[in-house]
Amino acid sequence: MDISKLMFREGLMEGERILVTGGGTGLGREMSEAFLKLGAEVHICGRRQGKLDETAEELMAALGGKVVGHACDIRSPEAIKAMVDAIWTHGPLTGVVNNAAGNFISRTEDLSINGFNAISDIVFRGTFYVTHEIGTRLIAEGRKASFLAILTTWVWNGGAFVVPSAMSKAGINIMTQSLAVEWGRYGLRFNAIAPGLFPTKGMSARLAPGGHGDNSRHDMNPMGRHGEMHELANLAVFLMGPGAEWVNGQTIAIDGAGYQATGGTFWGALHGLGDAEWEQMRAMIKNTNAA
Ligand code: HXC
Repeated sequence: MDISKLMFREGLMEGERILVTGGGTGLGREMSEAFLKLGAEVHICGRRQGKLDETAEELMAALGGKVVGHACDIRSPEAIKAMVDAIWTHGPLTGVVNNAAGNFISRTEDLSINGFNAISDIVFRGTFYVTHEIGTRLIAEGRKASFLAILTTWVWNGGAFVVPSAMSKAGINIMTQSLAVEWGRYGLRFNAIAPGLFPTKGMSARLAPGGHGDNSRHDMNPMGRHGEMHELANLAVFLMGPGAEWVNGQTIAIDGAGYQATGGTFWGALHGLGDAEWEQMRAMIKNTNAA
């Protein structure tokens, strides 16, 4: 990310302690970088301690401040509790970004129950586990905080070939609206961002293996391009930072009006693929998972 394109003043997020799930890579890392740059203490979690440590070291070397990596698979409520206990020994969180996700393209008729669960256990259940663990703690202690979920535009118009992700993220969209109302009176606010295409390594390997999936096509997007990381980071800072406290229960698309407004599908080209191409893509995606 071009950090000079952040639109906020230095020090805006001083005193904030923010957990970013899936913060070691991809969009989570970019948002963590922005929070750190603006003065927040950042906690990142993911499954691989080595990757988290590498990210934490790189960000601190570039920007100073404090980033702590926690190995935690959000599919495990016990692992989440242990991580939150560890974070709380040095103080409470003021913000949580529910960013961790799993996804791969597949014809729905090819999905096994395990395949469905692999995605929904992370996105649907895991996001709830994190929110529940931290939310109940904050309520018991009478503390305010901001929660932000990273969704996609297919929470509104569905996602062909990514049905477990679309279903799970739509569920988290409803969680956002529900808890904004239920927990708003405790000073906990819930918002979400629905990004369009912001290409990352993890996404391209699983959603456009070998170039299938058409993630590089911009002709359906009115602005003719994909998103730039600083644009996402600016919106995340706005929603998480001080000054936006009355924004609650909102899901904001950031996609150049590409998909939400036009009702377009990401995956038009996938309809034309046959068994051999799907077999080849499945092998490429699984190879990514194994790496
Ligand atoms: C069919 C597949 C498959 C594929 C895995 N499975 N890949 N089925 N096609 N391509 C099946 C397996 O065969 C197995 O079922 C089951 O899924 C579990 O597979 P595992 O590899 O054991 O799962 P696990 O190690 O838990 O990996 C989870 C994962 C993986 C979700 C499958 O991709 C992952 O860890 N992803 C994390 C990062 C990520 O996905 N990033 C991209 C996010 S993009 P069987 O029946 O064989 O046992 C995103 C939004 C993009 O979220 C928005 C764009 C606009």
